[in-house]
Amino acid sequence: MNQKVLIFLLPNLFFGIFLLGFFYKRQKNLTGTFPDASEDWLAIQNDRKSTLASVCQKQNLVKLSSKLNSHVASQLFVEHKHRFIYCEVPKVGCSNWKRTIFILQADMKAEASEIEHDHIHQTSVIKKVVAYPPAIQKDFLNNYTKVMFTRHPLERLVSAYRDKLLHSEPLYSITIANEIRAMFRKNKNSSEKVSFQEFVSFITANPPNSLDNHWKPMFLLCDPCNIPYDILGKYETLGLDSEHVLKVIGAPESLHYPSLKRYGSEKRTNGDITLEYLRQLTSEQIEKIKKLYQMDFFLFNYTMKYEDYFSLND
Ligand SMILES: *[C@@H]1O[C@H](CO)[C@@H](O)[C@H](O)[C@H]1NC(C)=O
Ligand SMILES: *[C@@H]1O[C@H](CO)[C@@H](O)[C@H](O)[C@H]1NC(C)=O
Ligand SMILES: *[C@@H]1O[C@H](CO)[C@@H](O)[C@H](O)[C@H]1NC(C)=O
Ligand SMILES: *[C@@H]1O[C@H](CO)[C@@H](O)[C@H](O)[C@H]1NC(C)=O
Repeated sequence: MNQKVLIFLLPNLFFGIFLLGFFYKRQKNLTGTFPDASEDWLAIQNDRKSTLASVCQKQNLVKLSSKLNSHVASQLFVEHKHRFIYCEVPKVGCSNWKRTIFILQADMKAEASEIEHDHIHQTSVIKKVVAYPPAIQKDFLNNYTKVMFTRHPLERLVSAYRDKLLHSEPLYSITIANEIRAMFRKNKNSSEKVSFQEFVSFITANPPNSLDNHWKPMFLLCDPCNIPYDILGKYETLGLDSEHVLKVIGAPESLHYPSLKRYGSEKRTNGDITLEYLRQLTSEQIEKIKKLYQMDFFLFNYTMKYEDYFSLND
């Protein structure tokens, strides 16, 4: 009789000890004995999203119409296997994101370093949302993980100038450069490279919506007030944010965001380089570019006092 009771009770006792252990461990997790890096990352994501949402409201940038603008739809790249949509913002690591999408589509049967810069920007193997009928575009936006990356607006501007006006890509170094010289150069005969001052005079003389994508304000490219991006990445935290994006979309663990650079021998535009160029501008020009990129500063929480920003990050 006693033996029977014991056989009945023993498993219950073990189960009880197991439960106790489970709750003890859980408690330990909850009290933060093991700080979890991805919780910090999520908290930062929530801050970025709530700043964005409140600025969108305050600045009346939320549209009533739910129709996707075709200019915006042509910035959105889509990868179906991982249900991933990436909004292209030039000068914010976009070539490497396009390489990543290409590799995902190719089932990892490609290497980032094999994909040439010019090829990835011309290739039609990476699909854009704009190529689909509007009803399907909506389905994608509802169901896919949507990501956009931003960068400090002035650093992005300097990066665009260095990349496009100081190299020999014909559209920029000939066509656009000649247009700028014709508008702003006193000595029309001089064929010297367009200066950063002339470049800034040029972009601030045109309406924001007509600007080239490399220097068009980021919020106009991706319309974050009307597209609910799931992840708001920043160039300033590019490596970390990219690894999280790849995890969220379920990319193979062996895939890492590449860090290839087009003009490999040159230094990436950083805070010091940006300041060096900004010092060439008049205070009037500084005010004009701050106004041009005002929404990018507000929406993505970048400070307009660039001295503060860049000394923080050096
Ligand atoms: C505690 O946290 C770790 C890592 O975050 C997790 O793998 C584990 O499942 C958690 N344990 C419990 C009991 O919640
Ligand atoms: C905005 O950026 C600053 C750093 O420049 C940071 O300290 C602050 O927490 C950010 N605010 C939000 C709401 O993300
Ligand atoms: C996407 O979501 C919509 C609802 O918004 C649903 O009707 C549709 O079937 C989904 N499509 C896919 C491909 O999952
Ligand atoms: C520009 O070039 C033309 C012809 O080459 C010349 O006549 C003119 O004096 C030059 N102007 C200046 C400002 O150098």
